[in-house]
Amino acid sequence: MKRTPMIAGNWKMNLTIAAGVELVKTIHYTHRHPGEVDVVVAPPFTALRAIADTLNDSYISVAAQNIHWETSGAFTGEISAVFAKDAGAEYVIIGHSERRQYFGETNETVNKKVKAAFLHGLTPIVCVGETDAEREAGRVHEVINTQVEQGLAGLTKGQFENLIVAYEPVWAIGTGKTATGQQAEEVHASIRELLVKLTGQEAAEKIRILYGGSVGAKNAKELLSFPNIDGALVGGASLKPQDFVEIIKSAGAL
Ligand code: 13P
Repeated sequence: MKRTPMIAGNWKMNLTIAAGVELVKTIHYTHRHPGEVDVVVAPPFTALRAIADTLNDSYISVAAQNIHWETSGAFTGEISAVFAKDAGAEYVIIGHSERRQYFGETNETVNKKVKAAFLHGLTPIVCVGETDAEREAGRVHEVINTQVEQGLAGLTKGQFENLIVAYEPVWAIGTGKTATGQQAEEVHASIRELLVKLTGQEAAEKIRILYGGSVGAKNAKELLSFPNIDGALVGGASLKPQDFVEIIKSAGAL
């Protein structure tokens, strides 16, 4: 089945409002017709509204990088799906390995956040991935399967069909060490097999599985050529307009 490729840029804790607006204007004007590609950028919360307004009439959508699972209330410092959506987000990245590693994110909180995202009309991009030690210990499938099963527990078929999964091996993030296309495809295929078990063939075939971890202008095309690699979640290279545009182009040329 043909899935529309998605290229998403995760800016992490980078770019002020002014710098972010300049970046998306450059991307938008440099590459106006990406064809059959969904393009998303995930700025820091503070820049969401300005970026969403800048991109109002463009083909690029906006994502938050995290949400809290509650809707509102006494949760000082937190941002819920309602506020992310109010600021212009359509998507939200959930369970990024940096949140798991530094901020105590667990499969259980991922699951609550995924449900909160759907409840308030945001499309979740759910991240999974093993560490170097887990790969060395031969535990890749066990770790990924647990993250997928627990992170996506209790979702309806309609929710499964709409969600996006991102496979980001922790050892490949920000390290310049990319998984080979073959290595990534092997994990993506096994994630899809598990999704078939969880929600049936038809819904599982609709789910886009993005690859993330040192994706750049040079390796995007090869990675995206594999049948179960439906796009990329890009960190560092998404801050460089030329590189990000090249990655979008490689997806558009599929
Ligand atoms: P890099 O592309 O910088 O390795 O980051 C990947 C990532 O974490 C995207 O969410």
